[in-house]
Amino acid sequence: MKFMRTKKTAVIICGITGDLSRTKLVPALEELYSGARLSSVPAIIGTGRKALSGEDLQALFLINNEKFRSLLYYHQGIDGLKRFCENQFQYDNLVIFLSLPPEAYERTAEELYREGFRENVRIIVEKPFGFDLRSSRKLNRTLTQLYKEEQIFRIDHYLAKEAVQNILVFRFTNTLFQPVWNSHYIESIQISALEESGIRERGVYFDKAGIIRDMVQNHLTQLLCLLTMEAPASLSAEDIRAEKMSILKVLKVERSCRWQYENYRKEKGVSSESETETYSEMELSINNFRWSGVPVYLRTGKAVNRTGIEIAIVFKPQPPILYNRDRALEKNRIIFKVQPSAGIIVDIASKVPGGNFQLTNANLAFCYRDISPERIPDAYLKLLMDVIEGDRTLFVSAEETEQAWKVFEDCLGTGVVKSYPAGTLPESCFCCEWIDFSPYMNFCVEREDAL
Ligand code: BG6
Repeated sequence: MKFMRTKKTAVIICGITGDLSRTKLVPALEELYSGARLSSVPAIIGTGRKALSGEDLQALFLINNEKFRSLLYYHQGIDGLKRFCENQFQYDNLVIFLSLPPEAYERTAEELYREGFRENVRIIVEKPFGFDLRSSRKLNRTLTQLYKEEQIFRIDHYLAKEAVQNILVFRFTNTLFQPVWNSHYIESIQISALEESGIRERGVYFDKAGIIRDMVQNHLTQLLCLLTMEAPASLSAEDIRAEKMSILKVLKVERSCRWQYENYRKEKGVSSESETETYSEMELSINNFRWSGVPVYLRTGKAVNRTGIEIAIVFKPQPPILYNRDRALEKNRIIFKVQPSAGIIVDIASKVPGGNFQLTNANLAFCYRDISPERIPDAYLKLLMDVIEGDRTLFVSAEETEQAWKVFEDCLGTGVVKSYPAGTLPESCFCCEWIDFSPYMNFCVEREDAL
């Protein structure tokens, strides 16, 4: 039987007792349910290695909606899961979320297939998708031997963040910015994703992965593609993926540095001799006609001085004449504030009112809150809905994941790992290219508070 859009879709979460279910999946499902958008979901079944009752599972989550709570079931392991589902409730389709350590994806997909979950199933695979090029190829091979490509949803939740979805809209709807979106006018692109918190309870996973596998190969690379790809022929998933692939094929890491925060090795689940990086900085080049010569800087890490995702498009300076004789004029910038609080800020120069012809930096800006009073929903909400509805636009193709591994393969586990005190931002190893994001930090946050 095929997956049918209008029919009842049950959700299975493999690995439901993990961090992701608690922080993202179950809250997103509850919000969808409470907003009456999950009416066709008869049950949410969690599986795991532990022996738990349905009540034990329900007690694991902070749930407000009692009706939603009663939809949660638990089954230990995959063996017998099909019979359990069929005996407990009626469903036509199944969405199965693999919220598991990456090394368990293949085995679990095979077990699910053997258990009889086949045609009417969609499988969601969390990142990192594989561990390197070789393992991601192997994983893709296994998955596509069991399931058709249209049944496999490789998740990258950054693609569903509201401000990230707006990058293509901003680029391909505003005539103003079209002519300048290239190496003639843009000096650099800077993508910064920082977190104050350390690795929390995820030591076992993180110590094997490191920040390059955890954030760079997927989330930051996807942002980079959206910022630099050509206009797709249409908004179909295939056409957008094709343009992202054209960037990935010409993307090259020029410089890469790795750091680890002090006392990381004492975290639970981490090896006392670990060389895993918790912070990474890179310079990349995009070797095509549009971007040749424009560096893209990436930095991301845990346990630094603040939390936030910002992107800067930095324009080339004015010539040192007229108002810029002393070269003091700030360069124009476009800042995409992804979180906390989303917005877009265009920095321009302006005259300060008064007689002595002083110039200052001003900005043209909008915060998402200005155009919609609604709270921006978590990315997982959108992604879960998209899988249920079969919309693949915000999911990553097998080709993309493999090509992205090719780009970063030489940086995995290579080079010295420097140390930084937790709570501080490591000093850039490229010296001075990063702009100071601090003036933008509270930008839309303040506006939200004022509402
Ligand atoms: C996850 C990473 O994919 O993204 C985490 O595994 C990271 O390490 C998280 O903290 C960040 O997501 P967000 O949505 O909070 O920016």
